[in-house]
Amino acid sequence: MQSYPATRILVLHGPNLNLLGSREPAVYGYETLADIDARLASQASAANTGLDTFQTNSEGALIDRIHAAKNDGTAFIVINPGAFTHTSIALRDALLAVEIPFIEVHLSNVHAREPFRQHSYLSDKAIGVICGLGAKGYEFALDTAISRVISAAKP
Ligand code: DQA
Repeated sequence: MQSYPATRILVLHGPNLNLLGSREPAVYGYETLADIDARLASQASAANTGLDTFQTNSEGALIDRIHAAKNDGTAFIVINPGAFTHTSIALRDALLAVEIPFIEVHLSNVHAREPFRQHSYLSDKAIGVICGLGAKGYEFALDTAISRVISAAKP
């Protein structure tokens, strides 16, 4: 049982995002995941907000991390689920089970790509969806997450 108010933000990166920088750079850009996470860390620290980041290529590990978020002080999730977006009912169920609000982020504009990328199992449950803005999308999502966490913590 968690006995303190949830105030942290969790950024989750799904499969193949560990390859950012070298993976199809024309689609996903030249920045590495470490570059992106470092910028998010300074953004959160400037706002005095706790941030955790996690990347995995495994659906089970992603779901386990979401379950852990229920009791580790996480108040908000920013998630780029990668290809699990388009395939994983289990991921949708995990996010609904923990009842933590989330924003879905995609680096690329999934609506301008193959038809199978145009369906998401998460979007209708997300607070919002950002796609096509590259790594900036994470920053916009984190900005919103920070404002929400800060205003929820106000007495
Ligand atoms: C992605 C889009 C997905 O369709 C794809 O499978 C990814 C990355 C994006 O960030 O644009 O792995 O989520």
